[in-house]
Amino acid sequence: MSKRPCIIAANWKMYKTLHESKDFMRAVLPKLSGVQAEVLIAAPFTSIAAVAAMAEESSVQIGAQNMNDASEGAFTGEVAAKMVKDAGATFVILGHSERRKLFGESSELVNLKLKRSFEEGLRPIVCIGETKEDRMSGKIEEVLGDQLSKSLSGLNPDQAKQVVLAYEPVWAIGTGDVATPKQAQETQKFCREWVQKTFGEEVASRMPILYGGSVKGSNAKELLEMEDIDGALVGGASLKPDSFLEIVQAVPVNVSA
Ligand code: PGA
Repeated sequence: MSKRPCIIAANWKMYKTLHESKDFMRAVLPKLSGVQAEVLIAAPFTSIAAVAAMAEESSVQIGAQNMNDASEGAFTGEVAAKMVKDAGATFVILGHSERRKLFGESSELVNLKLKRSFEEGLRPIVCIGETKEDRMSGKIEEVLGDQLSKSLSGLNPDQAKQVVLAYEPVWAIGTGDVATPKQAQETQKFCREWVQKTFGEEVASRMPILYGGSVKGSNAKELLEMEDIDGALVGGASLKPDSFLEIVQAVPVNVSA
């Protein structure tokens, strides 16, 4: 059983207009008192300010799904860390596999964004994960080791302590093909051991490592019961109030936020 606080993070991706985002908050916020988890919602940029204002009196944290690595500048269409912070975000998802695959983001760029997130005081959720081919060819540790060493390069232990890691096998994202608790546990244990070798025991024992990929109400509990699974990053099932609440309510009672 995990000794760390449990985090349930919603990743709304490119879903929800402002109106829909507010409707979700109205439905979910009153039902979150007394939950066993820290609840995070990564909203589209256009909804951050409004949902952050709605969440102000609650313990729910609002965040962004991406940001640019520069402080500011002539980067048409991009959004800076300080802008999302100012809008009310407290965290940011970095290096999601959709960013890596569809927008060509490298681990080196994730590392630049990570350093910027520290400068602006945003808590980073750094995503890593292998493809089906990597898994089939026995390359999980090689691929994840490479993503970890490049994405988390140059951090001091104090910075490393602020990182939330999200293990999201690419083959499990949006497919319904969830990793078994054993598969996720084995891989997340490898990640924690990597963190321990790189940043030391204190960082490794405190770092939350989330699992993401087809998490839903019916499979959340058995995943969250595993030693090295400290929470979930949830896409599809975070879009409807009921399916999201089902996951939040599945958090085992002896795992506390
Ligand atoms: P999913 O997405 O829950 O829809 O598989 C997870 C994610 O992309 O973070």
